[in-house]
This record gives sequence, C-alpha cells and structure tokens, in this order.
Amino acid sequence: MSLKFDMGTFTAIMGPSGSGKSTLLQCAAGLDRLNGGRVLIAGIELDSLSEQQRTVLRRDSIGFVFQAFNLVPSLTAAQNVELPMRFAGHRPDAYEVAQALAEVGLSDRADHRPSELSGGQQQRVALARALITRPAVLFADEPTGALDTTTSRDVLERLRFIVDRHQQTVVMVTHDAAAASYADRVVFLADGQVADTIDQNPTDRQANAAAVAARMTRLER
Ligand SMILES: Nc1ncnc2c1ncn2[C@@H]1O[C@H](COP(=O)(O)OP(=O)(O)OP(=O)(O)O)[C@@H](O)[C@H]1O
Ligand SMILES: [Mg+2]
Repeated sequence: MSLKFDMGTFTAIMGPSGSGKSTLLQCAAGLDRLNGGRVLIAGIELDSLSEQQRTVLRRDSIGFVFQAFNLVPSLTAAQNVELPMRFAGHRPDAYEVAQALAEVGLSDRADHRPSELSGGQQQRVALARALITRPAVLFADEPTGALDTTTSRDVLERLRFIVDRHQQTVVMVTHDAAAASYADRVVFLADGQVADTIDQNPTDRQANAAAVAARMTRLER
C-alpha cells in the first residue's frame, strides 16, 4: 500500500479484523521494523535513522494512543502527562502540563488518579500525555474502542480540535462509522491492501457516518 497523510489532516483507517490496521499504524509510527517499503515522517526516512535517532524522532514528533489507556495507576493525571518530559530528561513544566490538561478539558482532575476517572477522562489523560510534546503526528489505535458514545464524542472532538487548531496530523484506527465521521478522509483496508478511500467534509457528520456505514457493508460482502 502507498498512503500519504498530509499535515493538518485527520484520517480514519477502517477495515475488518486482521486487515492490517494496527500493523500499518505500528509501521508508520516506527514501532515496528519494515521488511520492505519506506516510511517518511516530515521528510525523514525512518529506515535511514539509527536506533537512537528513531527513539528521539518517536519521542519528539510522534504521539501514540491505544485502546487501553496505559496510564500508570499510582500517578495522578498530571504526573501521567509529565512522563514524556521526564523520559526526555526535561524537568516537567507545570504550565505546559496544565495547558495540556486544559486542552482535553480536565483542568479540575489534575490531581486524580486513573481509578478516580471515567473511561473517557482516562483516555483524555492519555491524549494529553501523547500531545504534551506537540507531536507532528498522532497515531491512535481504536482510541474510542472502550468508550461509550458520549465519552467517545469528547475524545473525537479533541482530536478534531488539535488538527484544526494546531495543524497536527491525526491517523486513527476505528471500527465505528460515527468516529470516522470526524475525519477528513477514510481509508478502508482489506487483506493488507487499501480497498477504498472516501474524502469527506468533517462538518457533515451524519452524512459521513451514513456513507461510511454503507461502504463498510459493501466491503464486507
Ligand atoms: N506480530 C505479528 N506476527 C505475525 N503476524 C501478525 C503479528 N501481528 C499481527 N499479525 C497478523 O497480521 C494481520 C494484520 O493484523 P493487525 O493487528 O494489523 O489487524 P487489525 O486490522 O488491526 O485487526 P483488529 O481490527 O482485530 O485490531 C493479521 O492476520 C494478524 O494475525
Ligand atoms: Mg488492530
């Protein structure tokens, strides 16, 4: 497959279980090594980098959010958000952490531990943590997979916001047509290939969801 994710755009990746969505994301984010082909991020070929350079690129330019929130249970929301700064050897900047939490609407939950937060709030903490380094691209693998409709909407609106407001790039795997309706483009995978793409207007969510659902039924046949 050959795919390009333009800066400041939101792409949804869909397709049946086992079609290669997570593999695509892991390869694109430099978490998996390729057997063939190339991945370029902001013009830099991942394969040309040393292991250490890859780590730095992943740390500074790439964010990743998973279906399981992967928060550290013993740390507060703010401390979880600080982690990437600590890993990078920087002193956590309290202002930036507060900003990141404000951006996901959690200013009043900074001192709560994950067990004291709802699923949607936990996922928004994970999002704030992924965004604290202001990555050029955020990869999200079913970020709303474990959330109900209302909390999903919160997370999706945040993703849309960082694309529109900060020109960050979002690539999100989802099984849900309503989640995909927030994207500028939907890419359908089947058996490791791109089966179809739809360009859509993200403000027209109902029509998008209907079109995506119709396309899913057709591809599954
Ligand atoms: N580490 C691995 N080693 C070998 N095969 C793998 C590995 N990870 C995934 N696969 C295979 O690659 C294919 C694509 O898997 P992938 O996890 O990318 O699917 P997916 O589209 O994300 O599915 P789902 O919707 O169930 O998450 C599957 O056939 C899977 O069994
Ligand atoms: Mg997957």
